[in-house]
Amino acid sequence: MSRAPAGYDGAMSTRYDADFAAIFGGRDRGDLAFFQRLAREHAGPVCEVGAGTGRVILAVAEVVDGCALTGVEPSEEMRAVFEVRLGTSRNVKCMAGSFTSIPLGDASQGLVFSAFRSFQHVLTTDEQLAALAEVRRVLRPGGIFALDLFDPAYRLLRRARPTLGVRYRTADGRVRERWESREIDRVAQRVDVTFRWIEKDMEGRVLVDEAATYGVRYTFPIELEHLLARAGFEAIDVRGGYDGAPRSARSRELVVTCRAPR
Ligand SMILES: C[S@@+](CC[C@H](N)C(=O)[O-])C[C@H]1O[C@@H](n2cnc3c(N)ncnc32)[C@H](O)[C@@H]1O
Repeated sequence: MSRAPAGYDGAMSTRYDADFAAIFGGRDRGDLAFFQRLAREHAGPVCEVGAGTGRVILAVAEVVDGCALTGVEPSEEMRAVFEVRLGTSRNVKCMAGSFTSIPLGDASQGLVFSAFRSFQHVLTTDEQLAALAEVRRVLRPGGIFALDLFDPAYRLLRRARPTLGVRYRTADGRVRERWESREIDRVAQRVDVTFRWIEKDMEGRVLVDEAATYGVRYTFPIELEHLLARAGFEAIDVRGGYDGAPRSARSRELVVTCRAPR
């Protein structure tokens, strides 16, 4: 199993859900409804790879009945948060695994998906192909694979000094700031993102100053189509949003569905 990027352990895992809520607040990204609809439309067990703290697979569990749902996640610390959220939910399992090692049987899943860019942590073309072969192994003939990635915008593919991403008050009354910076490797099509959390008390005293870094690979839309075709997927459909909008110059997401051969 490939290791989770260390960036998800420690500093990130315990803040992931609160950061997400603060960044997106009341704004609906549209991803939950998209993956819920796919799970309703395609019968059979469902697996999310890179399930993180369970944000999406637990939302999927709310709308499908009577089929097994598995969230696969390499980071032990992200899984620990997922397990707490899971509580006594019966039809969802949280399992250790990764894109190159999905702990499920051959041809066992009707739908495999990767939400909020987990696939972008697969960093080389060889690893991407190995991951796609592993997804195909667990999919039934005709099963669906769905994933989302950011649509690489040239203006963002350059080095960025630390900027304040979000500031909010935590449940225990601290002021938390998350700063973000990035380094770009254009040859490897890789972005290394560094997050730094600074937490202050009411008087402005710094209580915490922690950082974490992870790498993501950016993949261009046509490259992605070729990659999926090379991995043997069919009916490859690349959209510019979760609502099914076609790609445009302003699209921020690549939302992709494809099918394993029947
Ligand atoms: C941005 S989070 C998304 C989590 C969740 N899908 C969501 O939508 O909130 C990316 C997740 O991918 C996981 N990840 C990183 N490398 C991975 C790999 N090689 N295989 C599977 N998951 C991976 C990380 O540990 C992290 O939990």
